[in-house]
Amino acid sequence: MNEDLGKLVEAIKDRHSVRSYMNLPIEQEKLDKLSEIIEECNKEGDLHIQLCNKAGKTYSRIMNKVAGLGSAPSVIACVGKDDATLDERVGYYGEKIVLCAQQLGLSTCWTGTFSAKNVPVMVSGGERLVIVIAVGYGANGGRPHKSKSMEQVLATTGQTPKWFDFGVDMALLAPTAINQQKFRIGLKDDGTVTFEDKGGPFSKVDLGIVKYHFEVGAEYIKSQS
Ligand SMILES: Cc1cc2nc3c(=O)[nH]c(=O)nc-3n(C[C@H](O)[C@H](O)[C@H](O)COP(=O)(O)O)c2cc1C
Repeated sequence: MNEDLGKLVEAIKDRHSVRSYMNLPIEQEKLDKLSEIIEECNKEGDLHIQLCNKAGKTYSRIMNKVAGLGSAPSVIACVGKDDATLDERVGYYGEKIVLCAQQLGLSTCWTGTFSAKNVPVMVSGGERLVIVIAVGYGANGGRPHKSKSMEQVLATTGQTPKWFDFGVDMALLAPTAINQQKFRIGLKDDGTVTFEDKGGPFSKVDLGIVKYHFEVGAEYIKSQS
């Protein structure tokens, strides 16, 4: 577990959004690994996330072509039964899948700008396609995003434990829509961690992603003591 957490921390540090992909399909062995973790996430999170081996025309919109996303060979379509918690669950479990892809040597980019009718995915009655994640061999590794400071995202003043601080550090490395980082993290006297969503496009998906990053960071430090 400790070793797994260490690898997840490394994956968090190494991950950046990649918008340009090599013309290389993902090997079957890696597709199988991705399918395995997707199945686990679907069970745990009551989701219907699907790996689309061929991205098809998911990124046919001109803005995506210009950005380079049209080169993504495959996509992960984040679908689930539509309710008030869907976006956050998609963020949390989708990022678990993203960090697994990162450990397989693949690059990713969360994308809200997909062409809904062109994604080769099954969306049943009562379900909603929330967002799509591009996945493949990156033509580059992306680059670190400009980040808010720890103080800017804290809802807490005063001394905080090391596990909390590292959790926030990991949360600041999380991908968020238009790099908005519109979240606040706090620590109550009884040790409860609070997460606040300050709004903005896809901010509930962002919050799920941020919670997963925080958890990895906090658990990593706790596992060392
Ligand atoms: C919910 C969500 C939606 C996003 N939508 C897009 C998008 O439509 N197009 C795009 O190029 N990047 C998109 N991104 C990627 C963000 O721009 C990126 O995560 C942010 O700039 C931080 O950079 P990083 O991921 O390299 O750390 C999205 C990210 C998230 C989390």
